[in-house]
Amino acid sequence: MSVDTTMHVARPTRRDAYLDWLQMLSGAALVLFMWCHLILVASVVIGPSVMNAIAEFFESTYMAQVGGPLIFLLLLFHFVLAARKIPFRAEGQTTIIRHARMLRHRDTWLWLVQVVSAMVILIMGAIHMWVVLTDLPITATKSAERIQGGFWLVFYLVLLPMVELHVSIGLYRLGVKWGFIRSDNRAAAKKAEGILILLFIAIGLLALIRFLTLTA
Ligand code: HEM
Repeated sequence: MSVDTTMHVARPTRRDAYLDWLQMLSGAALVLFMWCHLILVASVVIGPSVMNAIAEFFESTYMAQVGGPLIFLLLLFHFVLAARKIPFRAEGQTTIIRHARMLRHRDTWLWLVQVVSAMVILIMGAIHMWVVLTDLPITATKSAERIQGGFWLVFYLVLLPMVELHVSIGLYRLGVKWGFIRSDNRAAAKKAEGILILLFIAIGLLALIRFLTLTA
């Protein structure tokens, strides 16, 4: 009797393709949100009144009150879709780490960075959104007081690189998956990925420094 040794590997279906599309689209929407969010927060560098005016606009149009929870739902939706491929059980985790060591390929390790940063972002992002959205209105002075307290400074110093790593690696992986990044332009894409991470971390750090030096 012949045994089909491939039976234990589930074949991708049309449903998997749709879910992959939804994962990509929700991820792309979150990337756009994060870039806009960081630039809006960094408006404090131009001046606290600029940040206050932007915050007032988002609150008077209810975009913060309604959009905030929607962003959280989108974050959760994106996580649940990605979780289809995350090994939550110990055996699966041991196997993926063994494979990453064996393959010695940077992109396999990047996938592990994606998984770990995703968990951190989900938890810390939820805490952050709860704290900010239950303490409206957003003002530069209130944000500065929070950050000068110390705890939130450390919190953002962890969350900021996690978000930027996740966003840039996510974009790079999308490029590879959908064929925009090929072997001929992979080196340039890796460079662009590195520049993107550093650029947004620099913008975030500038904003944090401005909050630290802001006096009421
Ligand atoms: C719509 C929901 C959100 C609102 C209204 C919001 C608002 C804010 C505000 C006002 C600040 C300034 C610091 C403070 O006041 O404590 C801030 C900083 C920050 N937020 Fe959000 N945020 C939202 C969603 C998110 C999400 C989903 C993430 C990532 C998961 C995130 C990551 C960060 C980070 C990393 C910082 C520090 C930025 C820096 O380095 O300058 N935020 N956010």
